[in-house]
Amino acid sequence: MTKLAVVTGASTGIGYELARFAVEDGHALVICADEEAIETAAEKLRRLGGTVEVVRADLSTREGVETLWAAIEGRDVDLFFANAGRALGHAFHEQDWTAIRRLIDLNIRQTTLMLHRVGARMQARGSGRILVTGSIGGFVPGPYDAVYNGTKAYLDSLCYAVQDEWRDSPVTLTCLMPGPTDTPIFHRPENQLSEAPIAQSVSLDDVTKVARAGYDAMMAGERGVVPGFTNKLAVMLSGLVPQSLLARIHRSYAEPK
Ligand SMILES: NC(=O)c1ccc[n+]([C@@H]2O[C@H](COP(=O)([O-])OP(=O)(O)OC[C@H]3O[C@@H](n4cnc5c(N)ncnc54)[C@H](OP(=O)(O)O)[C@@H]3O)[C@@H](O)[C@H]2O)c1
Repeated sequence: MTKLAVVTGASTGIGYELARFAVEDGHALVICADEEAIETAAEKLRRLGGTVEVVRADLSTREGVETLWAAIEGRDVDLFFANAGRALGHAFHEQDWTAIRRLIDLNIRQTTLMLHRVGARMQARGSGRILVTGSIGGFVPGPYDAVYNGTKAYLDSLCYAVQDEWRDSPVTLTCLMPGPTDTPIFHRPENQLSEAPIAQSVSLDDVTKVARAGYDAMMAGERGVVPGFTNKLAVMLSGLVPQSLLARIHRSYAEPK
């Protein structure tokens, strides 16, 4: 029987690449995002020979999660990619509260709900693999994207905790923790990081390589992966360097110019 992969945030960036690898591996896909671009992504994925169902839903809302859940229709999910996420940029006190709340709702609240549901079903069945897109930002306080880094610290931590609970289970949970990666995330209208040095950087990581590292780690049942040597080094140093210094380094990348 064809295996099923569900990918949130599959219209662009890391999520699109993850969906592409899953379809190339012979999985049927359910892909979800909230804008029109998800239809274009689905067309491209179908051209690779896959069966692709599209769900357009705002996953920062409970209704959006229920729409995706209804589309899965009780089917067994073999691979679940909790990837949809947003960033915000700019100084905390200047950010719009609705945008902050939406960011927390998407990156934390509704992502946790989806992981809880999918995780419970996989545990009951005794099989399945989950990949969560966290971030190395979760190891670093993030001036000028403070709430975003906080949400990723939550997700990275949640993953490592649940993995430990599942240490004797055949169900695997892998955390992909990319560094700054070349995707549209920095240039979305609500994301004021587009005015920051990080968005102009020429050394952003290649999106295909980042997603490949995540996909392979998931299939190997690894607990976590930080793609790239510099990012691995940054994570290692984050445990040794004072938080105030880490914050200052982050500011140099994220403060709008
Ligand atoms: N790029 C980086 O430097 C970097 C580094 C570390 C971690 N990450 C994480 O990687 C993940 C993917 O981001 P990306 O860099 O690939 O950015 P991206 O190209 O902007 O992709 C984000 C995806 O999430 C979807 N999405 C956003 N808000 C949504 C909502 N409310 N409901 C449903 N779907 C929604 C987007 O679809 P719509 O356009 O339809 O909203 C899009 O498909 C995120 O969790 C991000 O935090 C990125």
